[in-house]
Amino acid sequence: MTSKSSEVPLAVGDVLEVTIGQIAHGGHFIAHAQGRTIFVRHAITGESVRIKITEVRSKMVRADAIKILVKSPDRVTAPCEFTGPGACGGCDFQHIALARQRAFKQQVVKDAFRRHAGLNEVEVVVESVPGDQSGLSWRTRVRWSVDSSGHLGFHRFRSSEILPVNTCLIATQGQGAVPESTYPGVLEVRSAQGSDGELVISNAASGSTSSRRVNQEVLGRNWNIDIESFWQGHVGAAEALVRAVLDLGNPQPGETWWDLYSGVGLFSGYLSSAVGPNGLVVAVEGSARSVRDARRNLQHDHQVKLVESDVARWLAKATDHGLVSGVVLDPPRTGVGRVIARQIAAQEPRVVVYVACDPVALARDVAIFYTFGYRLDKITGFDAFPMTHHVEVVATLVPIPGHDQIS
Ligand SMILES: C[S@@+](CC[C@H](N)C(=O)[O-])C[C@H]1O[C@@H](n2cnc3c(N)ncnc32)[C@H](O)[C@@H]1O
Repeated sequence: MTSKSSEVPLAVGDVLEVTIGQIAHGGHFIAHAQGRTIFVRHAITGESVRIKITEVRSKMVRADAIKILVKSPDRVTAPCEFTGPGACGGCDFQHIALARQRAFKQQVVKDAFRRHAGLNEVEVVVESVPGDQSGLSWRTRVRWSVDSSGHLGFHRFRSSEILPVNTCLIATQGQGAVPESTYPGVLEVRSAQGSDGELVISNAASGSTSSRRVNQEVLGRNWNIDIESFWQGHVGAAEALVRAVLDLGNPQPGETWWDLYSGVGLFSGYLSSAVGPNGLVVAVEGSARSVRDARRNLQHDHQVKLVESDVARWLAKATDHGLVSGVVLDPPRTGVGRVIARQIAAQEPRVVVYVACDPVALARDVAIFYTFGYRLDKITGFDAFPMTHHVEVVATLVPIPGHDQIS
């Protein structure tokens, strides 16, 4: 290995040969050269590659694999022509066989728990979302960028430059027609396709997007939602996550459940049937648009109470909200943090079902819940974003017997 004193500082544009090590969170693989850790895209563990440095910072160096010298057996020809070094920033894993993509996601979740929660024994299986076979044609909605000539595209990785694209293979097939048109003067185009096949497109000409609605059927129930409201990205994810929440949380007739960060009320819709007419589901959501959608879709679910509020603000008054048996927690990517975890633990639910789109935020929050008397019980993962590094994880937290819950 090169000694520190003889190291030449790496610079953007440098080309060198490295061996690719472990996967890191965020779709990169680790390599080492000149005494630096390098986060390499477009590579696979075990490969020997030629890399080009794309960014040098005091704490991290990024690079793209530009030539594969010794190939992994899991390398495949990327189905999408717009992926690769310097190209579309959307998919990180198009060059990796689907089964290995899932194995890498399992590793990332395991590493997150080891590094951020001190839990060394966490094993998680990342399952494909039911119905997903190829990892393509799954994305129910797309936000397209528009270049100065009105063509649709996506941002190049970590760039403001828009790469024109004429198809996105991970979008449902109906959305393939969207980039056939040009959109002069438009800032952004959103498309979404319902489970009935209907395609809706909305343009933002001046920063405001006109509201359009789409239908999604989940477990025999129809959801009519504004395409600006949150909805799970993968065609099969809503159903898979609802099933996981019900299986892992096991809501019982007569119980009270909180559905925190409830969006359009997806989980509340099914918790409602499980707790029945003598139970209660309180759905708390910050977006007025999503709460409007929830009101529309849950109008016959009389045991669901919709609250439009910031979750932390609502929890600050938690003692007014009565006893709770179970909590579904589906926060944005940043997770919940100490204040919210403490307030939930103080209510002593028998179970917290945490739905997470970022395993690192989940692991950090799990570590916080331990300090408030809750331990990780079950965990399952879904490959709800094939071809990308993203993964969805559902975990349950249960009380640690004898723990003084609020320290
Ligand atoms: C990951 S989505 C989950 C939505 C829903 N559970 C679902 O599966 O469809 C997170 C939701 O949290 C909402 N949200 C984000 N920050 C919030 C906050 N501080 N308080 C309340 N809601 C918030 C967002 O508007 C979004 O609807």
